[in-house]
Amino acid sequence: MSPTESFFAICPRGLEAALAGELAAVGAAAVRAESGGVAFAGELRTAYAANLHSRIASRVLWQIAQAAYRDEKSLYALAADVSWERHFSPRQTLRVDLNASRSPLASLEFATLTVKDAIVDRLRAKAGARPSIDRARPDVRVFVYLDATTATLYLDLSGEPLFKRGWREDKGEAPLKENLAAGLLAAAGWTPALPLLDPFCGSGTIVIEAASIAARRAPGLQRRFAFEKLQSFDAAAWRALREQARAAIDDRAAALIAGSDISTRVVETARRNAGLAGLDAWLADGRLRLAAADARRIEPPAPVGLIVTNPPYGEQSHPKSAPVPKMMGEVADRLKQSFAGWTAWILTADRGLPRQMRLQETRKTVLFNGPLECRFFRFEVVAGAYRPRGHSAAATP
Ligand SMILES: C[S@@+](CC[C@H](N)C(=O)[O-])C[C@H]1O[C@@H](n2cnc3c(N)ncnc32)[C@H](O)[C@@H]1O
Repeated sequence: MSPTESFFAICPRGLEAALAGELAAVGAAAVRAESGGVAFAGELRTAYAANLHSRIASRVLWQIAQAAYRDEKSLYALAADVSWERHFSPRQTLRVDLNASRSPLASLEFATLTVKDAIVDRLRAKAGARPSIDRARPDVRVFVYLDATTATLYLDLSGEPLFKRGWREDKGEAPLKENLAAGLLAAAGWTPALPLLDPFCGSGTIVIEAASIAARRAPGLQRRFAFEKLQSFDAAAWRALREQARAAIDDRAAALIAGSDISTRVVETARRNAGLAGLDAWLADGRLRLAAADARRIEPPAPVGLIVTNPPYGEQSHPKSAPVPKMMGEVADRLKQSFAGWTAWILTADRGLPRQMRLQETRKTVLFNGPLECRFFRFEVVAGAYRPRGHSAAATP
């Protein structure tokens, strides 16, 4: 039996429980949700599987050392005591990142340099040379976490953050991160058995994530990981995991997933992204539908289903659209008119959304879109007497 190691998977705050479920599903043990991530235990290949299969984690870290510290000196001693030479060679480039909460140390920048020096000195002593630092594209990343009394050192197993699935065209826009999109689908309780609609689909993140889930495509199949560069890398175990994941793909699975957006240009981007994500067959036979449409005039793709979406908020809008509060009021009218029986889940930073839509939410979850605190509102759509805005109640039959 390989030894049991300790790991920590980071995720957007609010999605810890969903991530814990994913980790348990790949065989993780001692799964414990904390704020901003989930601790777990297992063999290294369990952590490879977490990197390959987790849709919600942003990164998986391998805990290398943990001890009490008081000052920079004890931090140096802790980092210098780790057998870094067993993990990587001085020919590989390094980056050290540090996070702290309630640390007594005066300068976290100095603490970061202290750990970096300890690692570099250790490698020079044991392997005869020092690694160079590369902040942009390091081969190896060490994460340090300090609380009031304990220092924990981690090796990063992911490399590029896991929401980078390896298919997106970089358009310099601000789409949802793939792991937040997957988290929305999980929080909404979406399964491929339910028709799905995103009427503000932008570059298609939510619907592409959904179709990949339906097709059982592991999110990490199209990318590389930092663990492949570590000396502990078990290439045979990794090959076996990838082969299993490839064999599990079911490109004929039944589903109905629709995305639309008022901008024809972003719908084109969404189509290209779907192709790059390996979903051409889904586009071709209409299980994944992408079309330009104004959300104020959309038609339901099925009698009942789930809307999961993040509309523009604040000042953000589209030239062909209306100011956001007015537009969301009109979208609500449209839903009451044609989407009775549907459930709509809407992510927004705007707490006034239920008022704008004149709908009462049946659930509200706090989620973070990067640093931005958002609400994920659930609305049950019931048929409402459709009343064009501006008409008085007395005028309605
Ligand atoms: C916050 S973005 C959605 C981003 C998307 N989730 C992604 O990951 O790319 C909001 C989108 O709403 C679209 N939009 C604005 N007004 C609209 C309307 N009336 N109907 C449909 N789409 C609209 C914009 O073109 C924009 O792509």
